[in-house]
Amino acid sequence: MTKVLVATDKPFAAIAVKGIREVVEGAGYELALLEKYTDKAQLLDAVKDANAVIIRSDIIDAPVLDAAKELKIVVRAGAGYDNVDLAAATAHNVCVMNTPGQNSNAVAELVFGMLVYAVRNFYNGTSGTELMGKKLGILAYGNVGRNVARIAKGFGMDVYAYDAFCPAEVIEKDGVKAVASTADLFKTCQIVSLHIPATAETKGSINFELMNSMPKGAIVVNTARKEVIDEAGLAKMLEERPDFKYITDIKPAIDADLAAKYPDRYFGTPKKMGAQTAEANINAGIAAAKQIVDFLQNGNEKFRVNK
Ligand code: 3PG
Repeated sequence: MTKVLVATDKPFAAIAVKGIREVVEGAGYELALLEKYTDKAQLLDAVKDANAVIIRSDIIDAPVLDAAKELKIVVRAGAGYDNVDLAAATAHNVCVMNTPGQNSNAVAELVFGMLVYAVRNFYNGTSGTELMGKKLGILAYGNVGRNVARIAKGFGMDVYAYDAFCPAEVIEKDGVKAVASTADLFKTCQIVSLHIPATAETKGSINFELMNSMPKGAIVVNTARKEVIDEAGLAKMLEERPDFKYITDIKPAIDADLAAKYPDRYFGTPKKMGAQTAEANINAGIAAAKQIVDFLQNGNEKFRVNK
């Protein structure tokens, strides 16, 4: 029998797993669950007889693919697929997909959860500021960036965006001001929200020079990937700019150090929480299950990312 494995170190909400089960079993397949695993050996064992795997930020590398002899498809229930070795998957003849847009509202809402916390001085009782009227810069205008823009308008913010792959006209159609470069976005905006993927081009790209060009009272909010930050530059920025705050859903390697030194200006969520809502889990998890069924039954590769 065709076996679909859900391998999630950070489990979906139970209601999402129920929905995934309905899709998988409705197609006549078997569902296996590996949640909160502590050891890679558990994943290597679980994938042995799986024909399809649904993951989140779980690492799918060559050893996992070597162990998964029956595997045809991996679906990353979410947007970023930097956790999957695409070249190795292609070499193993495994199709890799993501589920773009399915968890983006959840991530966008967390941006504002963290922003309000930051401008109110981490609720330490001192007088903070408001978001209304502040310039917000959105770096990358994809599914999350667009949701951030929509919510920011509700707060009365002055919204700017830059995306190397999205034309200015598309950005401006949403009533958002398009700027010409990442450098312009940082120079213009007091608050910058990062939504770039972790790629060879973006890794370490948010550096001291960029952050230091921001106006007084600068805040960088990162719900994207920790790899896009130049951590030495971040440490320097927090040290040299007492007006600067960094709030993140993905902790840098130097998290403990920054949290101890700057308790009122640095905050990292204890666990990556952006996509951790029932709605996002249902949307992304069920989309992943449906994409697997459509791939196995009809060969539909619409969301394939290892072309
Ligand atoms: C994504 O790329 O979809 C988000 O970063 C969410 O990741 P998660 O599924 O690991 O929470």
